[in-house]
Amino acid sequence: MAKPKIVIGNWKMNKDFEEAEDLITKIEEELADYQLQTEVVLCPPAVYAELVTDHASLEDSRFYAGLQNVSEFPNGAYTGEISAEMLASMDVDFCIVGHSERRKFFGETDEIVLKKMHRLLDNQIVPVMCCGETLEERKAGKHFEVVGKQIEATICTLKPEELERTMIAYEPIWAIGTGETATPAQAQEMLAFIRSLIEKKFGTELAVYTYILYGGSCNAKNALELFSQPDVDGGLIGGASLKPEDFIKIIEAAETVIKDN
Ligand code: 13P
Repeated sequence: MAKPKIVIGNWKMNKDFEEAEDLITKIEEELADYQLQTEVVLCPPAVYAELVTDHASLEDSRFYAGLQNVSEFPNGAYTGEISAEMLASMDVDFCIVGHSERRKFFGETDEIVLKKMHRLLDNQIVPVMCCGETLEERKAGKHFEVVGKQIEATICTLKPEELERTMIAYEPIWAIGTGETATPAQAQEMLAFIRSLIEKKFGTELAVYTYILYGGSCNAKNALELFSQPDVDGGLIGGASLKPEDFIKIIEAAETVIKDN
């Protein structure tokens, strides 16, 4: 059987409390009818963490709890920050790190991203490490170089047993929130490249095992084709994860690909 896919919803900084409750309830209700093989992760803003951890802890829950960011520091005097220990104490299972929006607006470097990954791994939370190039970098033909450096500086420094508990999301910055998706061929080409870097460093078995997702204007219409690519293990979904019907269609696309293989 094919490797199960993973579909992660990144809500970014959206929704008020009632809307967040409503969105989670709708997704839970819709998914109740499915015997899912796809793993679904919801990453709301941290202030709503309990909404997802409450649902995710139910025995028949169809999704896991995730968040979008974590502090690079352990508990202590860091006003406004949220630690990996806190996430672990709330039973958060996954956490996005190094999203391009954090790199761009909050100055996150690969060094900070790596610290955050270690904080998460030390607390038994799966980091979902984002990488990707800008439009200028792609136009200049530097996309492999840029993504390669991000992977080398973070993923390739891990121990094999840490990589086993880590996921990667390739999100070309020019495709995020723009409606312009990477073509399935572009996504496949980059994910295969990332996997080849992992293979070189860690060997074939771990390279095959590692989850590498695509993100960037993935939607109900293009998900099936993207997820059908051999190296695409699922999606990191922004805008479309805020609309239950669209998000469910994306999960259905993942299910279709698993069943057809
Ligand atoms: P969009 O799906 O809105 O393009 O966002 C992708 C993303 O950044 C997910 O982390």
